[in-house]
Amino acid sequence: MLYQREALDSPQWWQGLDEMIEREREANPDSWQTALIPVLHYVQDCFGYVPAKAINHVAQALGVPASYVCGVASFYSYFSLEPRGAYTISVCQGTACFVRGSQSVLDEVCRQLDVKPGETTPDMLFTVSDSARCLGACGQAPVMMIDDDVHANVQPNEVQDILAGYIAEARREMQAREELIEIDARAQHE
Ligand code: FES
Repeated sequence: MLYQREALDSPQWWQGLDEMIEREREANPDSWQTALIPVLHYVQDCFGYVPAKAINHVAQALGVPASYVCGVASFYSYFSLEPRGAYTISVCQGTACFVRGSQSVLDEVCRQLDVKPGETTPDMLFTVSDSARCLGACGQAPVMMIDDDVHANVQPNEVQDILAGYIAEARREMQAREELIEIDARAQHE
């Protein structure tokens, strides 16, 4: 998924976030933690991480210290405090996958992208997870997940083609976005 990091500078985006916080506060008047989770999901899904600016903003809106918000965001592995690539790759290192060669798949992913497990490619397209345990599809080992897509019975010689599919998808999405921005800009000048 390509993120909308440019929205960090958009007053409309922050206004939308405030409206969401207000709705969650009203729906969960007794628990700021319950109100916080969907808000953090929204931020994470927009940016691919939870930026410090968002932590401070949300904390202020909920009337709690920023360290509390940071503590919740750090507790759940879904949230990241550091920018992630558009796609997160998890090569299962659980027992069933390991005995069927998942380490070679992980090595090939890292070789193709020139990163180590836990790192993000410089173009911010891929992050390779360093902590993928059983992904719940042991019968299809070795298993690799890219975001929510499950790739079953993956062999090292298939990795390049799989990654190429995501690179092509990202290019298409970027092109579509650029076209939209151009259409918007033209509309404003008309
Ligand atoms: S061990 Fe890999 S999916 Fe279960």
